[in-house]
Amino acid sequence: MPQLNAIRTGVAELAKGPPLVVALVGATTGIGSYVARALAAAFAKDGSKLRVYIIGRKPDRAETLVQFGRQTSPGSDWRFVPVSDASLMSDVDQVCRHVAELEEESPFAGGPPRLDVLYMSQALSPFQKSPTTKEGLDTQMSLLYYSRIRFIQKLTPLLRAAPGSARVISIFAGNMEDSIKPGNLPIGTPPASSYGITDVRKHVTFMKTFLFEELVEQNAGKISFVHIYPGLVDGPGFYSDVIPLWFRIIWRVLKPLLSWYITSEKDCGEVMLFLATKRYPAKDTVTPETGANVIGGVAYSTQRDLGGGAYAVGQRGDESKNVSWAKVRKSDTAKEVWDHTTSILAETQGENDSI
Ligand SMILES: NC(=O)c1ccc[n+]([C@@H]2O[C@H](COP(=O)([O-])OP(=O)(O)OC[C@H]3O[C@@H](n4cnc5c(N)ncnc54)[C@H](OP(=O)(O)O)[C@@H]3O)[C@@H](O)[C@H]2O)c1
Repeated sequence: MPQLNAIRTGVAELAKGPPLVVALVGATTGIGSYVARALAAAFAKDGSKLRVYIIGRKPDRAETLVQFGRQTSPGSDWRFVPVSDASLMSDVDQVCRHVAELEEESPFAGGPPRLDVLYMSQALSPFQKSPTTKEGLDTQMSLLYYSRIRFIQKLTPLLRAAPGSARVISIFAGNMEDSIKPGNLPIGTPPASSYGITDVRKHVTFMKTFLFEELVEQNAGKISFVHIYPGLVDGPGFYSDVIPLWFRIIWRVLKPLLSWYITSEKDCGEVMLFLATKRYPAKDTVTPETGANVIGGVAYSTQRDLGGGAYAVGQRGDESKNVSWAKVRKSDTAKEVWDHTTSILAETQGENDSI
């Protein structure tokens, strides 16, 4: 497991590298906002600059973050790109087109129109009701999985244009593997009879692991894909009105007792930046020799390939010692997940638009 000092060294190295164009979806509050603040802090000094797209619903919160970024990291370019509802594919398509237009209009720091890193942390609180969207998807399943895959698909041309290999980083439940009954793969939205926190996590994490493995094959040398469990991270989500009062009271009482277990905003932001370093390379871009000096040691993929390009990691960016979902995986599991996902996304295809 990478130690915090290695993580900080890795982040400092990142800031000495080339300028980066970063998009953060769901960053107006919580972990996405900690990533934005960590970016501003890491790129605060002389050296490389950033362009950051804050993609979210709340202009006032986004503006606070943009102001923080401009003050902390002068010379970097901080932009708010509004999205009305990221659980809707039509809105995702629109915001992705907007980002592509902005990049085409004025590429950053002499490079091509591109995205070097895409972070996604959009989600409902697990305590919130998850209605069916007007496009027919369960809202939480969409925010955690379908909408995130849609962002990836629509932004792939920009990600592939990154001069170094690009990173896609999805923040939710990374390396958590809930038990699966044989012959009952968790593909799709959980049925109403079992729908709940555990089943949603199982379906999302399972599908994301295999879909990322498929995407890696299509983007070898170009994009790596990481999903991460951030640990228990305190934030406004624990005090929001959508949380039942009893939980808010219990949380305030337990928080001091759990302080050793809670990941701070700062540490969380730094770990998320560490995922953009060379420790998590695109497939076929490192060998044991070229990766020998990488800070923290090159990560193993979900198929236990060194630098394999698809990573499922825990709260310190640590990968499992085993092949992910080893007991249930078959040679065609990734294809099964791919076929399911592309058929769901095709059903919500925008007019005159292709996946
Ligand atoms: N915090 C933890 O302890 C913890 C632990 C394990 C896993 N996670 C996972 O990590 C991820 C981030 O967690 P977090 O604590 O940062 O959550 P959070 O504070 O609730 O933030 C979620 C973000 O999603 C955005 N969002 C929600 N619905 C949206 C919609 N329909 N359209 C656009 N944006 C929408 C919110 O935007 P607004 O600002 O507009 O509301 C907010 O910025 C989630 O997947 C969560 O499940 C968190």
